[in-house]
Amino acid sequence: MVASKGLRKGRFITFEGGEGSGKSTQVKMLVESLATRGIEAVATREPGGSPDAEVLRTALLSGLVAPLGPAAEAMIFSAARIDHLDKLIKPALARGAFVVCDRFADSTRAYQGALGNLSESFIDGLEHVTVGDSMPDLTFILDVPAEIGLARAARRRGDDAVDRFEAETIDFHRALLAAFHDIAERNPHRCVIIDAARRPNHVAALIWHQVEARLLSKTSLT
Ligand code: TYD
Repeated sequence: MVASKGLRKGRFITFEGGEGSGKSTQVKMLVESLATRGIEAVATREPGGSPDAEVLRTALLSGLVAPLGPAAEAMIFSAARIDHLDKLIKPALARGAFVVCDRFADSTRAYQGALGNLSESFIDGLEHVTVGDSMPDLTFILDVPAEIGLARAARRRGDDAVDRFEAETIDFHRALLAAFHDIAERNPHRCVIIDAARRPNHVAALIWHQVEARLLSKTSLT
């Protein structure tokens, strides 16, 4: 199914980055800042975000899908994305809410596409049929050196087992950051790279400045 152009009164913001880049903290802080302004904001995440997509999330993060290879994995991330868009993201945007999502299609492009050596035409085609014209208005790429990100992810995890993606090597994470930088360079109007090695409050202030300038100013809301 090609995603149809729904009525879109709200704004769609996504966060991308490597492990331990602080995305979930920043999603929470941004939603709170928007709420303080009286703006309805919905926090969500991928893979998952809708009940059926959360089922696929469990399969994806358990490593059950990995043996099928990156192409099949990309398709299952996309299947989850279609349901998430239809059940949560598009209805929220249609009623005028802001949607703030922890990871979206750029993660498929970076993890399965760039790191999985899938062709650009495959990823472009998949993104087109999955997302269509529902691409984000604004994407923050949280940039932290791979070593710092992995150390933060390890601290957060404690004694829990590493998931399939956290188990990859430091080189994998460096290549991942390079892939996100490449996406940002190709989409300068949508993507903003944020130095996320700093304290959460400082990072949140950088993000808020961009949201105000790009999405809340008078001209951007007309
Ligand atoms: P999660 O525990 O949410 O990790 P993080 O805090 O890093 O976002 O797990 C999501 C994992 O799924 C993460 O390692 C990235 C991966 N992923 C893909 O490989 N492709 C995708 O399209 C998406 C949305 C996520």
